[in-house]
Amino acid sequence: MIEIRNLSKVYDTKSGTVSAVDSVSLTIQEGEIFGIVGYSGAGKSSLLRCINLLEKPTSGRITVDGKDLTCLKSEDLRQARLKIGMIFQHFYLISQKTVFENVAFSLKAAKVPTAKIKERVEKLLELVGLAEKRDVYPAQLSGGQKQRVAIARALANNPTVLLCDEATSALDPTTTKSILSLLKRINKEFNITIVLITHEMNVVKEICNRMAIMQDGRVIEEGSVYDLFASPQAVLTQEFIASVVSFEIPEVILKSCKGPLVKITFKGDVAGEGIISDTLQKFNVKGNFLHGSIEYIQELPLGIFIMELKGQKEEIARALQYIESREVKVEVLHNGL
Ligand SMILES: Nc1ncnc2c1ncn2[C@@H]1O[C@H](COP(=O)(O)OP(=O)(O)O)[C@@H](O)[C@H]1O
Ligand SMILES: [Mg+2]
Repeated sequence: MIEIRNLSKVYDTKSGTVSAVDSVSLTIQEGEIFGIVGYSGAGKSSLLRCINLLEKPTSGRITVDGKDLTCLKSEDLRQARLKIGMIFQHFYLISQKTVFENVAFSLKAAKVPTAKIKERVEKLLELVGLAEKRDVYPAQLSGGQKQRVAIARALANNPTVLLCDEATSALDPTTTKSILSLLKRINKEFNITIVLITHEMNVVKEICNRMAIMQDGRVIEEGSVYDLFASPQAVLTQEFIASVVSFEIPEVILKSCKGPLVKITFKGDVAGEGIISDTLQKFNVKGNFLHGSIEYIQELPLGIFIMELKGQKEEIARALQYIESREVKVEVLHNGL
């Protein structure tokens, strides 16, 4: 478990101080894949680098697996850090070393016996699907393969936590998918807690259980990815979600709507379309679908439909009441003319 309490990071620069992280508190459970989302400059990397004390927090506490890292002295801190792996957008492999040597690097530095290193590195390369590339240099690898080497290197010391700083941002969509599924597998097989920062909501939607949204160094909203997709509160959260699930309706279509326009959100195993067709049958109301999709988040369906309702006012009101009574969220976007 990672506990971040009142964490702040202020950089002193020639042109003054920059408050990069401002009183952030977050609890990340063991075995979770936690996403931190925000635009460039929001403070995500600074926060992540504070988790393993790559960056020294200006104030606040970081506790990983019960140890307060901010209190540890050099040797204890070094030991604690070994249990926190990290990967980056630009991989940072050592170009003069082979794939095998890159992964072996920290084990060699820790004076692990050669036979043990060989066994461990070979196992890791097998895990990331690069066994046959062991003697190749980074320049001969694709971006996805480089990130796989970086992942193997990050796992060398059997960490309990893996920090990922925009790990898929330099990769194409197909490669991104394969790296995300590798991260998911690592999370499941070894119960490694993953903290992942990204500006891409697709990444979060694909693998995170919970997420936090950062703006100007602060966490402005956090919760389960599913709940935030179903009902984002902050404007910025809504903006990020709209980047993957957009329900914009052209102005001309909106103008031509006579009846009330409603947005119907149904969660999980509630058979939303069934409820809508039930309603249209039960009441003297017609529905004109303008938008609709079912997104799958962590394998759970989230349905969002926008429709114009046509019929008598009272009948429409009864129909809406009926839908709400079935525990489906209904928002009236506009009341019609
Ligand atoms: N080493 C540094 N020295 C000075 N300012 C920094 C440093 N690192 C980051 N910053 C500043 O802190 C703010 C947050 O940056 P960063 O943590 O990199 O955000 P993000 O990862 O969300 O893009 C930015 O204004 C950035 O310019
Ligand atoms: Mg960053």
